[in-house]
Amino acid sequence: MNAAVAEEAERARVWCVRADDRHASSAWTPASGTASGITVGVVASGDPRRSAGLRDAVIEGLADGTLDARRGRERLRGVALVGGGPGDPGLITVRGQQLLSQADVVVVDRLAPTSLLDRLSADVEIVDAAKIPYGRSMTQEEINATLVDRARRGKFVVRLKGGDSFLFGRGGEEAAACAAAGVPVIAVPGVTSALAAPASAGIPATHRGVAQDVHIVSAHVPPGDERSTVDWDGLARAGGTVVALMGVERIEAVADALVSHGRPADTPVAVVQEATLPGQRTVTGTLATIAASARSAGVRPPAVVIIGEVVKTARDLDILHTGTQFETRRLATGRDLQ
Ligand SMILES: C[S@@+](CC[C@H](N)C(=O)[O-])C[C@H]1O[C@@H](n2cnc3c(N)ncnc32)[C@H](O)[C@@H]1O
Repeated sequence: MNAAVAEEAERARVWCVRADDRHASSAWTPASGTASGITVGVVASGDPRRSAGLRDAVIEGLADGTLDARRGRERLRGVALVGGGPGDPGLITVRGQQLLSQADVVVVDRLAPTSLLDRLSADVEIVDAAKIPYGRSMTQEEINATLVDRARRGKFVVRLKGGDSFLFGRGGEEAAACAAAGVPVIAVPGVTSALAAPASAGIPATHRGVAQDVHIVSAHVPPGDERSTVDWDGLARAGGTVVALMGVERIEAVADALVSHGRPADTPVAVVQEATLPGQRTVTGTLATIAASARSAGVRPPAVVIIGEVVKTARDLDILHTGTQFETRRLATGRDLQ
């Protein structure tokens, strides 16, 4: 029937698309799509899967800005504080990626997803805030001055941070420096490690009937230190989930403070190192044991400490992930939540 229809079409000089046999077709229909005001059609020698795959790739590249990047676009100016997410390059937001692909200058941090920089064109200036000549990292004042200086020269500057810029990321200071200098500044939120680390380890930060509150704290100074403004007493009494950043070296002091203020010593704890990165791993214990466990496991920063019954919930529900890899590929095995 198909052959007969094709023959009749040929006699009548009418194009005929044959879905059953692309080689016998006189025409192919393109896989088409629209993004950023551009419509594309792809014809891959009549191979529909290949055309659809290529169409998807082109549409994705147009949507996230990587395809036509800084060419033929309205030029942006000023500074964008972009939260780059916890480390996996797939966890930056679409808006963050779009702005990054249009940057003239990128000022980047050690914990930012630096693999994203590989996609930038060679003429983009990369300022590594974690390292300058003479071996020290840039001071916050030097970073602020660089943002303002480049923006004043008419460049579009992306300040790429790990996680979210406004959560222990000094984004507020950078925004204020730009505002004070009259430089337009915007913030693009990022996926913070405070929530990504528990999630990528299979630990729900809150869970119905288990924890209604989650407290994100910085443990860059230990409890009891005069520079600490964290209410450890209140946190011990609150009973919900505590997520501590910058706390690996002070994990013992944190656990002791919570126990001495009344939190049960058998409260479950997890430490997630290098969340969402290839070296991700999770060490678990209780407030009484976690310091020794983390030490003997050789846990190093960056790591997030999660304290509360949700850690036990994750284990009970069999969704706690203690392996060493964050891989979307796991979905294919059907075994893991990730
Ligand atoms: C200066 S704070 C910056 C936090 C960042 N602004 C955010 O929202 O994730 C650095 C701390 O973030 C945590 N951190 C950042 N990335 C991490 C990752 N991939 N895995 C575990 N912890 C991470 C660690 O506690 C680290 O000491």
